Amino acid sequence: MWYENRITQDLHIKYPIVQAGMAGGVTTPELVAAVSNTGALGTLGAGYMSPEQMEESIQKIKQLTNNPFGVNLFIPETPDVSEEEIEQANEWLRPFREELNISEIPKVNQPSTSLFEKQMEIVIKERIPVCSFTFGMPTKEMVNELKKADVTVIGTATTVKEAIANEENGMDMVVVQGSEAGGHRGTFIGSFAEAMIGTMALVPQTVDHVDIPVIAAGGIMDGRGVLAALVLGAEAVQMGTAFVTSLESGVAEQHKEAILNSHEDQSVVTSSFSGKPARGIRNEFITKMAKYENKLPKYPIQNTLTKPIRSEAGKQNRPEWMSLWCGQNPRSSKQQSAGEMISDIISQVDDMVNNKEAR
Ligand SMILES: Cc1cc2nc3c(=O)[nH]c(=O)nc-3n(C[C@H](O)[C@H](O)[C@H](O)COP(=O)(O)O)c2cc1C
Repeated sequence: MWYENRITQDLHIKYPIVQAGMAGGVTTPELVAAVSNTGALGTLGAGYMSPEQMEESIQKIKQLTNNPFGVNLFIPETPDVSEEEIEQANEWLRPFREELNISEIPKVNQPSTSLFEKQMEIVIKERIPVCSFTFGMPTKEMVNELKKADVTVIGTATTVKEAIANEENGMDMVVVQGSEAGGHRGTFIGSFAEAMIGTMALVPQTVDHVDIPVIAAGGIMDGRGVLAALVLGAEAVQMGTAFVTSLESGVAEQHKEAILNSHEDQSVVTSSFSGKPARGIRNEFITKMAKYENKLPKYPIQNTLTKPIRSEAGKQNRPEWMSLWCGQNPRSSKQQSAGEMISDIISQVDDMVNNKEAR
C-alpha cells in the first residue's frame, strides 16, 4: 500500500501523516488524540509548557488514545541581550500596551536551559514514543539517552546541510520545513533568509543526501500535497496550518477565521512577535513593527515582551495585534474535525493512486 514505509513501520502508525506539534495552545489533548486515533501521528506542542502543564496534557492524551503520539520541544536559546535593547523594544511596544490597557511590563528572566531539561525528563519518564525538536538539535548525549528509552528522535531542517547535521547527530528522522510553512522557521545553521527553500525543491535534494527518512512540511493541506511529497521521496508529511482550523484546535476563533479567510499572498515572515522569523498573516502589528525588526531583542526575549500584547489582543478581539501563524496554502483550509480531515486525505490519495478522479 502507498502508506506503508519505514516511517509508518518505525513509528507504529498506519498513515504517514504527522500533525505538527504546535506550541501556544493549538495542540489540545483532544486534537493530538483525535489524530492518533485515526492511525496518523498526533503531536503535543510542548515548547512553551511548564513541566506541570506538560504532565497534565500527556495524562489527558493517554486517557483519550492508546495509539502512539509525539511531543515537540524547542532547543533552548540563551542570547546575550542588553538592558538598553530591552528598554528600546519596550518603548516601541508601548503604544500597543497603552491601547490594550496593559500596565505591567513583563519581567525578563535570563533565558536558561533548565525548563528544557525538565521537559526531556518528562518525555523519558512518561515513555513518550516520539520526540521531535526544532530551533536546533539536542546534544548527542541527549539523543542517546532518548534512544535508550525507546524514544524515536526527530529533528527539523530547512536546508540539506541542516538535514545532514541531523543525521550526523544521530536523529532517527528529519522534518524538512519548506519556506511555505506556517509558524517559526527551524533554521539553525547560517542565515534565515538564505534558508527559505520551497518544499518542492528541498525534499528531493534532501532525500538524495541523507539516508534517514524525510518528513516533508510546508504548504501541505490535502491528499494532493501528501501524494506529491511521497513522490518527491518523503516518507511522511507534517501538517500544521491544516490542523489549526480543525474543530479540536485550541487557538482563538479569530486565528481560525483569519486562516479560513486568508489568501496565498497574505502571509509574511516576521521576527516582530518573537525575535525569530516566523510565517503569519500580515496584520497591523507586523507592518508597524517592520521598521524595527532588525533591532529587536532576539528570541526568546522579544517573545516574552510581546506575550501580554498577544494574549490581551485575543481577549479584546483585536486580531490586528495577534500572531496569526499560517502557511502559504490557507485557501485549502477547512473547518472540520481532525478525524474527518485525515479520512478525506486518505481517500483522496487512494483515489489518485488507483487512478480515479481526485476529489
Ligand atoms: C500555529 C503554528 C504553530 C507552530 N508551532 C510549532 C512548534 O511549536 N514546533 C515546531 O516544530 N513547529 C511548529 N510549527 C511549524 C510546523 O511544524 C510545520 O513546519 C508547518 O506548520 C508546516 O507548514 P504548514 O503550516 O503549511 O502545514 C508551527 C506551525 C503553525 C502553523
